Amino acid sequence: MSALVESPAWQALVEHAATARDLSLRTLFDADADRFAHFSLAAGPLFIDCSKHLVTARTRELLVALARQQGMDSAIADLFGGVRLNHTERRPALHTALRDRSGQPVMLDGRDVMPDVRSVLARMRRFSDGVRDGALRGLGGEPFDAVVNIGIGGSDLGPQMVVEALRAHVRPDLKVRFVSNVDDTHLVESLRGLDPARTLFLVSSKTFTTQETMTNAASARRWLVSGLRDERAVATHFAAISTNLEATAAFGIAPDRVFEFWDWVGGRYSLWSAIGLPIAIAVGMDRFESLLGGAHAMDRHFRTAPLETNAPVLLGLLGVWYRNFLGCATQAVLPYEQYLHRLPAYLQQLDMESNGKRTDRSGRPVDYDTGPVVWGEPGTNGQHAFFQLLHQGTQMVPADFILAARGAHDLEGHHDILLANCIAQSQALAFGKTEAEAGAEMIRNGIDPAEADRLAPYRAFPGNRPSTTIVMDSLTPEALGALIALFEHRVFVQATLWNINPFDQWGVELGKQLAGTVLASLRAGTPAANLDGSTRGLIDRVGRNT
Ligand code: F6P
Repeated sequence: MSALVESPAWQALVEHAATARDLSLRTLFDADADRFAHFSLAAGPLFIDCSKHLVTARTRELLVALARQQGMDSAIADLFGGVRLNHTERRPALHTALRDRSGQPVMLDGRDVMPDVRSVLARMRRFSDGVRDGALRGLGGEPFDAVVNIGIGGSDLGPQMVVEALRAHVRPDLKVRFVSNVDDTHLVESLRGLDPARTLFLVSSKTFTTQETMTNAASARRWLVSGLRDERAVATHFAAISTNLEATAAFGIAPDRVFEFWDWVGGRYSLWSAIGLPIAIAVGMDRFESLLGGAHAMDRHFRTAPLETNAPVLLGLLGVWYRNFLGCATQAVLPYEQYLHRLPAYLQQLDMESNGKRTDRSGRPVDYDTGPVVWGEPGTNGQHAFFQLLHQGTQMVPADFILAARGAHDLEGHHDILLANCIAQSQALAFGKTEAEAGAEMIRNGIDPAEADRLAPYRAFPGNRPSTTIVMDSLTPEALGALIALFEHRVFVQATLWNINPFDQWGVELGKQLAGTVLASLRAGTPAANLDGSTRGLIDRVGRNT
């Protein structure tokens, strides 16, 4: 057994969980008239209701004891202090420095990184202002009216999610598109209707070697050069965001169009760096800086709040409670905010690429579950699709509801319906409806008692299905920044509890490596003899010579 599973704090939770399985949210609310106040908290611009969780004050105590046992305070200090927590790549994870607004130095290996961070931010401001006000123009002197970001994973999901979230602030005359998939459909459809003379490409890639991004960037360059009939267009119509300055130069991108970031920024933690350039161009640098400010407010909270009232710590502990002690395999993210429609996809990478690990920090296989499957869709759409399973299926799925008290628009009768549905869903999940209640309700509605009796089992809801509700006043850049940082830190908290490294991603490598062999076989028109039968068969089936 691992030291974690054997540890006193873990074993105390195992014992406690045996009784917690019988907890009833109805009973817990009946027993404590102030449960909402006792189990909710504020963090920066966010209000977080945790009262609909299957926990008591004792559960919280035991979970916090687990955090303490696992060295949470010093792990948080190490994160902000630039310790090389990403031990397999020997790198720190200092994304918090990118949004540090304190004016204090952030030291790494005896050097303050903040002057570099500020200098790139200043360049981003000049460049994004220039694109927005027309001072920067294409080869033929025309202003840009389209920005196409080419990147994948963290170089796509973060900036895309934020641009979508802040779409109400995107200039209507500016088309902002994101191309990630190597499927040429993505590039072809994204370029449809664009004028090369007015199109700016941002090639976003930490490594500048990612196959999909480099393939798309090469095709975009061909599209541009053939449209403008001039090789020099590359220097004016392309910018790059990368840590690999040699590769950006080899691609032909002018040095003053390259925005640098650093190997201490992980791909899925990079939207705060120059990877956020499409955000700055889309909504303006002031709003991008407000986003950083919101994240910094959450960082301050995470760094200074006691474990008992620390929002990322408590949310991380709740995740571990459900994953390891109550057997939940998945976590739903349900934004009741259409502008957050890309948030679940973004969180999938953040959480699953970080905590989808089976080897602990000392290289041993874990004997406990780690990261859950994260999934979701905006409400109310999900209600008419998968909520059936959430309410009456056989598995318990903890859910994060996210809502803004004030809507972005004011069409009569919309926002209150949205809010009502969100609140009602968490209520239905928590408190359910007994068979007796379902039967009585049908009889009240004039249904024959025998029929009511027959249908009651189908129309009953078990309840006791847990959820968090995160409320912001409105979806401002500050609130969004705080929300993203909250989730980033929740992932870190869980990795700390599980004793795994959330900052590497070796699990993506094997597929990339094998794709090289398969591609060689496809291009040769014949499968390599040493491949397995299925791979050979598939290559034959889809290959050019079939
Ligand atoms: O393949 C996974 C990954 O390395 C992610 O971690 C990363 O966000 C993405 O690919 C893109 O990498 P890059 O920014 O280097 O192109």
